[in-house]
Amino acid sequence: MRCQRLLLELLGQSVCSRTSHGPLLGRHRCPWPSRLPVRHSSSAPPLVIEGVEYQPDDWTNVTPRILEHVGRRLHEQPQHPLCLIKQRVTRYMHSAFRNARGNPLFSLHERLGPVVSVAANFDSLLVPADHPSRRRSDNYYVRRDTVLRAHTSAHQTELLTAGLDAFLVAGDVYRRDEIDRTHYPVFHQMEGVRVMNREQLFGVMADPQLRLFDPSPGPRRPEKQEAHSLEAVKLMEHELKTCLEGLAKRLFGADIEYRWVDCYFPFTHPSWELEVRLDDDWLEVLGCGIMEKRILDNSGVGDRIGWAFGLGLERLAMKLYNIPDIRLFWSRDSGFLNQFKVGDCEQSVQYKPVSQYPQCSNDLSVWLPGSGYSAADFYDLVRSLGGDMVEQVTLVDEFTHPKSGRASHCYRIVYRHMERTLTQAEVNRLHEAIGAAATEQLGVQVR
Ligand code: DAH
Repeated sequence: MRCQRLLLELLGQSVCSRTSHGPLLGRHRCPWPSRLPVRHSSSAPPLVIEGVEYQPDDWTNVTPRILEHVGRRLHEQPQHPLCLIKQRVTRYMHSAFRNARGNPLFSLHERLGPVVSVAANFDSLLVPADHPSRRRSDNYYVRRDTVLRAHTSAHQTELLTAGLDAFLVAGDVYRRDEIDRTHYPVFHQMEGVRVMNREQLFGVMADPQLRLFDPSPGPRRPEKQEAHSLEAVKLMEHELKTCLEGLAKRLFGADIEYRWVDCYFPFTHPSWELEVRLDDDWLEVLGCGIMEKRILDNSGVGDRIGWAFGLGLERLAMKLYNIPDIRLFWSRDSGFLNQFKVGDCEQSVQYKPVSQYPQCSNDLSVWLPGSGYSAADFYDLVRSLGGDMVEQVTLVDEFTHPKSGRASHCYRIVYRHMERTLTQAEVNRLHEAIGAAATEQLGVQVR
């Protein structure tokens, strides 16, 4: 009864506030094609990742520097800020959903390795074959069919197929991106998935007219997929949004202002983003939606309907703890880590910078090779050589010579270490080494 009254209210309720076509996997700003120089051949030595050997091929672009991050498991280090946020989200989900015996409904999976198949990361989630999020310039491919997961959604199908119907996944994810205070090629996400059959959604005593699927499916509409009944979708949407609004309030405080924004993901329809208002800005907290029925069909649970969400742990931790730079999460420095030694994850912490070390900025102007160049390659090269000495790389100028037709990029590299002062001499040495490596490996010519 309660459920039917709620449904009536929901069916009369208008949907969504504004429309924005959000990107699939965060931002995709790199406009260059991904025809990169071949760096590995079949005769190259195998890559060993977490004890497993992978034979590189012509698609491999993962770098040793990136592989150093695999296995750090920051989200499992007790009292690491990312672990504290993971615990807060988990604790909230456990309190919000319990089974008939009073036990938590959602299981937590945080040890699934980051090396996944391209099928798991993209195909199983219905990401179109030509979708930009698959680009080599945006992902770390171990080889053509294997990738460092770009999102925790990569585990949806495997866990559904294993028979789970309510689960959380926490893990490190990898994306090639620009370098600045809020972007790092490795970050952490949490995923939540719940699937339900008719009885679970409407209750065992529900009116037999209430169904998950429309007996005469029409075309897809903004508010629902073809096969779903409107009443099932509305109830799912209500549960999902209530759950996530509760999470936002638990994390940011009961008075937090929030809004729902329509968006697009290949794996959900309808899809939304939740934004919260912080310091006069709207912060995107998570993406979510009603799972595509085809994903459930392919996972052997086609008789169910599901919702899912995904959120980034760094973004939340930076706001909640006032952490100014995403690289700090990788610090082994006690000056950073000790600030998060709290008795309980709900305790509030305001990070205080231990000290500010000076920045040093140097420009590098290069002529680009005729073809096959991507700025993402340059960012990776800087990351590989510069490691934690580079705070930011920005493309500050682009032009094409009117006579020769040659294209040129100017990159500004900001050098700063989070934990010590860099000497001018070591910055100069590194800057020169970057120019030399770019010339040799990427075919550019330093101007
Ligand atoms: N995988 C998405 C991303 O990385 C986040 C996401 C959106 C996960 C919607 C979901 C979802 O499960 O339903 O941008």
